[in-house]
Amino acid sequence: MQRILALALLGLMASQAWAGPDAGSPRMNYMLHCSGCHGQDGSGSPSSGVPSMRGTLGHFLKVKDGREFLIQVPGTSQSSLSHRDTAELANWLLKTFSPLEVPADTPSYSTEEVARLRNDPLADAPGRRGEIVQRLKEQGIAID
Ligand code: HEC
Repeated sequence: MQRILALALLGLMASQAWAGPDAGSPRMNYMLHCSGCHGQDGSGSPSSGVPSMRGTLGHFLKVKDGREFLIQVPGTSQSSLSHRDTAELANWLLKTFSPLEVPADTPSYSTEEVARLRNDPLADAPGRRGEIVQRLKEQGIAID
């Protein structure tokens, strides 16, 4: 009996360690769902086709289709996260990896906006990204 109690207690402690204060936070969701490709610090792996988000992400908010793209891109839209967690994560990404490039007065992503965009997938994500990068270039902003 004591043994069973001790085991149950251990299990409880382990599950609480896992579900620590950071569980469900945007940072933790990023680590679990995104950092495998994008790297812990958002620098990606440009040579393998995963662009860096550092100092670039906020620029997407300056041209047509860019705001939508950050949610419609498969990594964001197809994760198992809820719409609410995805909205929080997207806002966190911008603030963490590209705060200086986000235009002033940019509204945060809301759960509703994210839900709408995730239900409207891109047929050709790299193609759309190319169009956005071209529009930025025309404004004198170069990103890879
Ligand atoms: C399997 C690898 C992979 C995973 C996992 C992944 N991504 Fe991505 N992500 C990419 C690639 C590759 C691109 C470049 C666009 C493309 O070709 O789809 C990208 C692009 C992006 C972009 C646009 C940035 C840009 O410069 O194009 C955002 C925002 C993004 N991902 C967010 C996320 C988020 C948030 C998660 C986790 C919920 C995530 N990604 C998980 C591979 C991944």
